[in-house]
Amino acid sequence: MQILFLGDIVGAPGREMVIQYLPLLKRKYQPTFVIANGENAAHGRGITEKIARELFEAGVQAITLGNHTWDNRDIFEFIDREQRLIRPANFPQETPGTGLTYIKSSQGELAVINLQGRSFLPPLDCPFRTADLLIDEAKKRTRLIFVDFHAEATSEKQAMAWYLDGRVSAVVGTHTHVQTGDERILPGGTGYITDVGMCGPMNGILGMEREAVIKKFLTQLPVRFEVAGGVTQINAVLFTLDSTTGQCRRVERIRIDADRPFME
Ligand code: FE2
Repeated sequence: MQILFLGDIVGAPGREMVIQYLPLLKRKYQPTFVIANGENAAHGRGITEKIARELFEAGVQAITLGNHTWDNRDIFEFIDREQRLIRPANFPQETPGTGLTYIKSSQGELAVINLQGRSFLPPLDCPFRTADLLIDEAKKRTRLIFVDFHAEATSEKQAMAWYLDGRVSAVVGTHTHVQTGDERILPGGTGYITDVGMCGPMNGILGMEREAVIKKFLTQLPVRFEVAGGVTQINAVLFTLDSTTGQCRRVERIRIDADRPFME
């Protein structure tokens, strides 16, 4: 059984890449489950119901979010009724939505958990203790548990992976938009990568227009970031799991871009 996870989808260029390549990736890898981080899917900030629907139609089965969850007012209209869309579970208790969902397949059910880090990001509830609670809950239903930890600091992501090693099938980091080359299986059987990377513009800065980002660093003035144009990329990761134990057997990074064309 395999989980295909697509890194942060940034704006229209990211959505177009996913719509174009997900059918090809599905044919090549035959994933049992497809998950994507969609927190930058609407112009780099948040997600709309229309965009979520587009991604589901393209073959994504669950969408995770992050610090941009509330950037589109549209989210408040549908987050409570769209069960396939989750936001970080350690947001304050009163916030709409949930941080745990389940995807069904003929080979079993996968629990998908979304958490957000607290280093260089807003002070939320403890993601580690929240993970404990959600894993206990998910274990009542399934051995297959996937965690998207949306976080800035590599140390916090590594800490989460080691903290959850042996208790979940896989932990991926999202948010930094640059794919790391440290994919591995930890001793307890948890697959891990510090950051999956992003789907979207390749020549922007984290997907946004370079000029504005550079101006920001030069002047410290407020600037408006727009999604970059030009060539695009897909960054993803594929976990192969043992469906009886839930342990990870193999991790493979996936990159598709101008320098690395898709191969059947
Ligand atoms: Fe983010």
